[in-house]
Amino acid sequence: MNNTRDQWSSRLGFILAAAGSAIGLGAVWKLPYVTGTSGGGAFFLIFLFFTLVLGTSLLLAEFAVGRKTQKPPVEAYKELAPGTAWHWLGILGIISSCLILSFYAVVGGWIITYFVRSLSGSLTDPASGNHEDLFGSIISNPWEVGISHLAFIIVTIIVVQGGIQKGIERASSIMMPALFLIFLILVIRSLTLDGAMEGVTFFLQPDFSAVSGDTILFALGQAFFSLSLGVSIMVTYSSYLSKKDNLVRSASSIVGLSILIALLSGLAIFPGVFAFGLEPNEGPSLIFTVLPAVFSEMAFGAVFLSLFLLLLLFATLTSAFSLLEIVVSSVAGNSPGRRKAAAWIAGISIFILGIPSNLSFGLLSEWLLFDKIFFDQIDYLVSNILLPLGALLISIFVPLKMNRAELQDELLRGSSLGTSFFNTWFFIIRFVTPVAIIFAFLDVLGIW
Ligand code: PFF
Repeated sequence: MNNTRDQWSSRLGFILAAAGSAIGLGAVWKLPYVTGTSGGGAFFLIFLFFTLVLGTSLLLAEFAVGRKTQKPPVEAYKELAPGTAWHWLGILGIISSCLILSFYAVVGGWIITYFVRSLSGSLTDPASGNHEDLFGSIISNPWEVGISHLAFIIVTIIVVQGGIQKGIERASSIMMPALFLIFLILVIRSLTLDGAMEGVTFFLQPDFSAVSGDTILFALGQAFFSLSLGVSIMVTYSSYLSKKDNLVRSASSIVGLSILIALLSGLAIFPGVFAFGLEPNEGPSLIFTVLPAVFSEMAFGAVFLSLFLLLLLFATLTSAFSLLEIVVSSVAGNSPGRRKAAAWIAGISIFILGIPSNLSFGLLSEWLLFDKIFFDQIDYLVSNILLPLGALLISIFVPLKMNRAELQDELLRGSSLGTSFFNTWFFIIRFVTPVAIIFAFLDVLGIW
């Protein structure tokens, strides 16, 4: 049996896969909407600050753990802090990832359903009726969304079972450049519509009076979520890096690409919404009800809508690969045979775990817990509790349990940056990041 550990074939392959994990529903769908309604450019600047300072620092911390140990999270924390309970941090990451993927795949299924329908042109046909009703009837139909939910998981399983180089890296190297290209086409189309500037203004004009304590904390959570932090996914991905790679340079590219995509998303979506006099609604309806209406008004609308949905599908899939990979790498070790079995067993279990989320828009819509449907419950639990908790624990673990000289060596290897960069990073990760997360946390729990 071949038991050597798989590795990314190149730095670019790693960057595309890690940026693929980061860029997903968070950047393409949630951020543009929240930016538009929470102070526009003012909110974006705050998000940018958190992403660049705290997000990048935490990303480097996860990279240091993964690359140093070359092991999946539970093993990595065990190696760095033997005989302690810190390996629970890896288990927390696995649990959080399964929960995220369980509802992420439901939205992935909706995207597949919409993509298939858009190819036939039926979504942009003016006779297709009210888009809101259509969305409601699609997501409450257990069979249609159930099948596409399963299809989304199966594609994810097939890619992940192929391994790091031949599975995730290969798929990301096709999907991510395609995603950038489609974005470019859509942004050009969108910005050249009559009245496009109104949408750009809605998205980016700074309005500091709309920024409240809550939006600042939301920007912090969003910065972590959209870099896939706090789940040890970046520990997992960086464990497949060669010892020669420059971690700071890779982290900068990943953060830069995520920010670029968040900006491009807003520029692709809002000009069209305003040019055709529609309302920039909240949440899932922005993508599934407002955009089809926008595209129905446009020449070749069916083509542009299909391209947008394909882009969204690629963004969602590349994030799903990372969510399944952390589970698979943790249970299968280096054995390719066990990897296949692990991918199928974990993937199908996560599909089953996602069924109540899927049905919470139809059959189980009356099943409320704290006034929320099951889907929203899981989203809330993960985004507001498990992710910040994971991020907090990692920012405590790294300065506490890793040797400072070894950390410096890991982070500065191959880089021309000096000790002052390292010292600044160490200060941020040790003091600034935990304090910021604790404030955000207490706010979410309503304690502060
Ligand atoms: N970063 C992804 C997004 O913004 O949609 C979501 C995500 C993936 C969060 C993986 C956390 C994670 F571990």
